[in-house]
Amino acid sequence: QWGLRTNWLGKSIIHKEVTTSTQHIAHQVAQENAEHGTVIIADEQTNGKGRMNRHWYSTRGKGIWLSIILRPTILPYLAPQLTLLTACVLADVINKETKTNSKIKWPNDILINGRKIAGILTEMQAEQDQIQYVVIGMGINVNHTENDLPGDIQEKATSLLLESKERVNLKNLIQQILVTFEQEYDAYIKDGFSKVKKKWESHSFKIGENVQITTLKNQWTATFSGIAEDGALLITNDNGEIEKLYSAQIDWFHS
Ligand code: BTN
Repeated sequence: QWGLRTNWLGKSIIHKEVTTSTQHIAHQVAQENAEHGTVIIADEQTNGKGRMNRHWYSTRGKGIWLSIILRPTILPYLAPQLTLLTACVLADVINKETKTNSKIKWPNDILINGRKIAGILTEMQAEQDQIQYVVIGMGINVNHTENDLPGDIQEKATSLLLESKERVNLKNLIQQILVTFEQEYDAYIKDGFSKVKKKWESHSFKIGENVQITTLKNQWTATFSGIAEDGALLITNDNGEIEKLYSAQIDWFHS
């Protein structure tokens, strides 16, 4: 049905017209031993999940709502690298398949013209120093018109159709994402993170620019200095000190 040109990714695909959340299904089948590379796709999610417990709008047939089950042989603390790898894949494929220029905003938002086009949610089940499985969920707004975007996100979200003025074939985009993901993942397992890191930095907002950092406790400005090996954000504070942040909200002063 999908005619996928991959070696292992999506050999098993679970497709639902409607489901609560593909993340939810992924956890269920992963606990029942679903194999590495199992993909769950929904046309519509009634309870799509975003990061930090936020809701993720998943309008029927308008976007890609997809989760991948992985069983990587890496240490649990390195799992955020997979999120960064996924962000690279999405930015790569979006830029190749559409006339848009998407950028990654740390840690894992994909933006076009300053508005969010896609998000990634990585969840992991680990015991001690071993990953049982990782679920990587990705949501991409594809063929939404202005009216398809709920009022409360219209300001900050967009779709590929709105940005490129062209409808995108969902199946083709899924195909490209899975093929590219498989290539990048295989390269990452073989060669490590350094190439992913370079690619990520080339897709991200520019290193050396000023950003506003907001954490639970504080808000301040600093210089964006790239990412660390473990996926943490590197910033340089006004006093020249380099700081590693694992959880913060970043805002760019330009778009
Ligand atoms: C975010 O930016 O907050 C992450 C959004 C992730 C949304 C995707 S859609 C497919 C998968 N299933 C979910 O319920 N969430 C992820």
